[in-house]
Amino acid sequence: MPEADDRESKDFSPEVPQSARVFFAKGAASYDWGMQNRLARIFRPDTGKTVMLAIDHGYFQGPTTGLERVDLNIVPLVPYCDALMVTRGILRTVIPSAMQQGIVVRASGGPSILKELSNEQIAMDLDDASRLGVSAVAVQVFVGGEFETQSVHNMTRLVDEGYRRGIPVLGVTAVGKELVRDARYLGLATRMCAELGAQIVKTYYCEPDFENVTAGCPVPVVMAGGKKMTEKDALVMASRAIQGGAAGVDMGRNIFQSESPAAMIQAVRKVVHEGMPVDDAYDLYQTLRHEFAPQTAGMR
Ligand code: R5P
Repeated sequence: MPEADDRESKDFSPEVPQSARVFFAKGAASYDWGMQNRLARIFRPDTGKTVMLAIDHGYFQGPTTGLERVDLNIVPLVPYCDALMVTRGILRTVIPSAMQQGIVVRASGGPSILKELSNEQIAMDLDDASRLGVSAVAVQVFVGGEFETQSVHNMTRLVDEGYRRGIPVLGVTAVGKELVRDARYLGLATRMCAELGAQIVKTYYCEPDFENVTAGCPVPVVMAGGKKMTEKDALVMASRAIQGGAAGVDMGRNIFQSESPAAMIQAVRKVVHEGMPVDDAYDLYQTLRHEFAPQTAGMR
C-alpha cells in the first residue's frame, strides 16, 4: 500500500489554463490519440518528415534485385530509416522485432507482375496489423486503371477498419504505364486518396507544379522513389520534392539498389531532415560510400 498523500500544499496552478494538445502532421489535428501516436512513429515530430524505406516489392514481383536476402541487405539499413514499408511475411520472418522504427505494412495484393496489377484486393486483416503493432497500412490505388473502383474500395474499407483501431492508411497512387505522371494526374490521384480517407499519400515527383500536388492534398504527401537512377539524380529529386512540400520520401530501389545503400540512405536523410543542398549530400554519399564499402560488399 502506498503511504497516504496528506500534504497540505498541492500545486494546481489554477491561473494557468491547460495547454491545448497540438499535433504537427498535416491535417491530423483532429485524429484520435492512437492514430496521432502512430503517425509520430513515421514522421519525426522535430522535422515533420520521414525517410521511409520501401522493401515491399516482393508482394507482386518476388525476389527483386537488392532484396534477394533481406536479412543480409536490408536489416543493416533499418537504423537509418524512420519507417520501414514491408510485407507482413518479411516482417515476421526476417525483421528484428526489437526495431524501434515505424512499420508500414503492405495490406493489398493479389496479382503478380505477370497479370493486371490493378486487380488487387485487401490482403490483410487489420486484426493482424494490430497484432504486429504497425504504424500504418499501405494500399495501392489505381486511379485511371482497369480496376480503379475496386482499388479505391480496398482503400476505403481499410480506412474504416483503420479508424476502428487507430491505424492510419497510406494510399499509394499506382500509375499505370499508359498514364502520364504530371501534376494534373497526380493532383487528381492524391486528392482522391485524401478525400476518401487516407491519412498519408505516396506519389511520384513531377515537374512542373509538384508544389500544387502537395498543396492540394490535405494530408502529408511522401515522394515515391521509382526506378533506379543515379545517386545524384535521386538526391536531386528528393530535394526538389521536399522543397515542393513533400513530407518525406518513401524510397526503395534508389536506396537498396545503390552501389552503397547505407551511404545513400544517410545522404537522403540529410536532404529530407536537414534540407542539405544536393551537392553536399552527394559529397557525403561519396565519403560514406568508401567508409561503408567493405561492410556493404560483405552484406550484398
Ligand atoms: C509501389 O508500388 C510499391 O509499394 C513498391 O513495392 C515500392 O514501394 C516501390 O518503391 P520504389 O519505387 O522506390 O522502388
